[in-house]
Amino acid sequence: MINLALKYRPKNFNDIVGQIHASQTLKNSITSGSISHAYLFYGSRGIGKTSMARIVAKSLNCVNGPTLTPCEVCDNCRGINQGNHVDVVEMDAASNRGIEHIRELRENVRFSPMSSRYKIYIIDEVHMLTNESFNALLKTLEEPPEHVVFILATTEFHKIPETIISRCQNYPFKKFSLPDITHRLSFILEAEKIPFEEDALGFIATKAEGSMRDGISILDSIIAYTHREKLTLNDIYSVLGTLPAESYANFLDGIKTSNLQKALREINSVYDDGLDLKRFVWDVLDTIKNIVLLKNNAMQNTSSISSFTENARKKLEEMAQKWDGNELIFVFNSLFTLYNEWNMFPSMKSGEIRAMLEIKIVQIMESLKNPSLSQVLQKLDGIIKKINNENPPEDPQPHPVKPGKKMEEDASDNNDFYIKKAFLGTTDHTDEIKNIFTSKE
Ligand SMILES: Nc1ncnc2c1ncn2[C@@H]1O[C@H](COP(=O)(O)OP(=O)(O)O)[C@@H](O)[C@H]1O
Ligand SMILES: [Mg+2]
Ligand SMILES: [Zn+2]
Repeated sequence: MINLALKYRPKNFNDIVGQIHASQTLKNSITSGSISHAYLFYGSRGIGKTSMARIVAKSLNCVNGPTLTPCEVCDNCRGINQGNHVDVVEMDAASNRGIEHIRELRENVRFSPMSSRYKIYIIDEVHMLTNESFNALLKTLEEPPEHVVFILATTEFHKIPETIISRCQNYPFKKFSLPDITHRLSFILEAEKIPFEEDALGFIATKAEGSMRDGISILDSIIAYTHREKLTLNDIYSVLGTLPAESYANFLDGIKTSNLQKALREINSVYDDGLDLKRFVWDVLDTIKNIVLLKNNAMQNTSSISSFTENARKKLEEMAQKWDGNELIFVFNSLFTLYNEWNMFPSMKSGEIRAMLEIKIVQIMESLKNPSLSQVLQKLDGIIKKINNENPPEDPQPHPVKPGKKMEEDASDNNDFYIKKAFLGTTDHTDEIKNIFTSKE
């Protein structure tokens, strides 16, 4: 398997996708010659921190440097690209946490660079250092030699001591949006001359969860599977062991319409294909969550809505129409409880898992048919709130009946209005009604 993530590691500032803020500020500091002695790059994994650190190192140490366009061919550029430049030290703090490593580093920073302008220390996962190590590092950051540049990187900014943070220029790195990832993936596939379905890339991007590296790695494993043939959405389902959006829709539809056979058919096909039922249930939970968000209009302003392929989004919208919000939450909770039970017994066999799931589905269907008292009350609650909202207390006057074509409709609206008012007034009677239902005698 070719390592596409490495092959397509951005080489210079023009190459790097997004991270506009970090990129622009770093470029300014390089062109203006105001180089800081310590940078801190933070943000989740696979979004370009290490790539950017190497770009900065090359920009500073290229024979033509400091430059925004390192030449890529001088010994310095090549050494940095290959990770074996004498003056550019990459250190993984996760495996070098101890004080002895930082002491050694402190000894070495005093010596001038051997073959270039700056000695550059790239310390990855810097939050892993012990307190003692942080203190030792801090001393160097307080009085850094002229020729030294530290580039610290971390996925866990909150674990970095304030004293370190205040000695560094801080650069937040952002997760990628779906279009950013899709765009990069299509760029890579075009460069590799591999044809693809648009939807397929969209789906990979949703699985990458904002990480460019993860997106590219998934692409890598799919290409290995398709032998560089045209990449389709179905290939991706096979490789990732996920199912098309229809499967989740059918499964939930079966539950909603009390069609046990329909729901079980999906379970059987997951089971027969040797896919993981736990994973299936997790994806169902995720689907329910998305329907609930969609029903509450919580998706419009987030990137979530664009995280679905055309088809998947259509399915979600259909389901949002059919389902009642409280029912969805009930199904979610029931399946989530089961999911947790499975996790408590990791050695459970797939046949046992399947049996538990089947019984749970029957239970859920029964409960949906016979809603519990609390569900009835919840529903009633919703209705009453709705009625009260429609008749806000500030406007106690009924709308006058206007003469004309619509008189009949308006009149019946008014009737409704009076009935509701007579029964409910303008205050919220939810609690009183609840008391009637729940009082013992
Ligand atoms: N901003 C980006 N632009 C282009 N590719 C990126 C970007 N961020 C990550 N990648 C891809 O992901 C791989 C890993 O990125 P890396 O810089 O090591 O991420 P991090 O250090 O944040 O975990 C790179 O080799 C590259 O292929
Ligand atoms: Mg990294
Ligand atoms: Zn160079």
